[in-house]
Amino acid sequence: MMPTTSAAPSSSPAAPIRETVRVELGDRSYDILIGTGLLDDPAAWAGLPKAQTAMIVTNTTVGPLYAARLQAALVPHYARVLTVELPDGEAFKDAATLERIYAALLGATCDRKTVLFALGGGVVGDMTGFAAACYMRGVPFVQVPTTLLSQVDSSVGGKTAINHPLGKNMIGAFYQPVRVICDLDTLDTLPERELSAGLAEVIKYGPIADADFLAWIEANIEPLRARDKTALAQAVKRSCQIKAQVVGCDERESGLRAILNFGHTFGHAIEAGLGYGEWLHGEAVGCGMVMAADLSARLGLMPAEFVARVRGLCERAGLPVVGPALGAERYLQLMQIDKKSEGGEIRFVVIDRLGSARMQGAPEAMVREVLAAHCAA
Ligand code: NAD
Ligand code: GLY
Repeated sequence: MMPTTSAAPSSSPAAPIRETVRVELGDRSYDILIGTGLLDDPAAWAGLPKAQTAMIVTNTTVGPLYAARLQAALVPHYARVLTVELPDGEAFKDAATLERIYAALLGATCDRKTVLFALGGGVVGDMTGFAAACYMRGVPFVQVPTTLLSQVDSSVGGKTAINHPLGKNMIGAFYQPVRVICDLDTLDTLPERELSAGLAEVIKYGPIADADFLAWIEANIEPLRARDKTALAQAVKRSCQIKAQVVGCDERESGLRAILNFGHTFGHAIEAGLGYGEWLHGEAVGCGMVMAADLSARLGLMPAEFVARVRGLCERAGLPVVGPALGAERYLQLMQIDKKSEGGEIRFVVIDRLGSARMQGAPEAMVREVLAAHCAA
């Protein structure tokens, strides 16, 4: 149950924030540590798998900001702490960049106990996780997510992947990290647009799982955008609790886990239709949630006010709420190749009551109405 009052406006509280969320997956269970100053807190880095070598995988943007502090945190635990810096961007989430991780590991004769540390956003996290799943048939890895999106979503749950020229995230594995360490202070350097994109994934958890959380986000959207650490800690903690619960029930997405894709069917069409990188993933998801909310209303599952509520919150989060003018045919074509389609039928995550979601098909004419209502002409 979330309080619906605003968080106290304290951007740097005197006492460090410490929260832990557990992901329960039997002998692959792990903790998500959420807090301020975690990069410099020895307690956060204690008790990880022992090894001779740790390898920090980061990129050319995040490395210069935070790799030296991560290195200092790891030096007491590992005889060698190596770093590999990858080029920054979704365009580099590919086999050639993955090969650079393997080359760094093999070039330094890293053994099968080597622990990988993914320092960066979802791109670094997904690629490092996949490298960890494959290197010597599996080495441990730790997620150190530095974007809001990666702290509330991609670092948790073990989906790892690279892109293929024929499809996004098409080559990958389910492979869980041994710990996730979310230092909220790293969000201070995140560009505003990336923060808003992360907020889309935070907002997502309200309609699908927790009506009180939706109300809490509405009451706290300004402190969240102002990077108030108390508000961010609440948002990351509740998001991770919900994701941990869903993943604990359905790790490999045989059913329930698909609800985490609320807004993603429309969103993926926007991303693919414009060309990846034009809109950020979270921006496309935000706009997609408005469309999925409208579809839920047109299906008679939710009242019309729900659509205005989702649109209003996405706008206040700094997200675009009008889809690009791809044309209905192109949207439909792109949604048909979505991973959730079955036998050519497009399936959507719809809200059937506030805090509850399910997968459902919809008549094509209705989907066309939604597109006409929410996309630029
Ligand atoms: P990203 O990793 O590209 O990071 C966004 C940008 O912010 C990059 O330029 C990055 O270098 C920069 N950055 C990261 N941390 C920073 C910081 N603290 N200060 C300044 N700049 C910083 O994007 P993202 O939104 O974090 O992740 C998107 C990726 O996540 C996509 O590839 C998507 O497919 C994947 N994803 C995976 C899952 C999953 O379950 N595995 C879920 C959602 C998304
Ligand atoms: N981001 C959706 C999932 O992890 O399943």
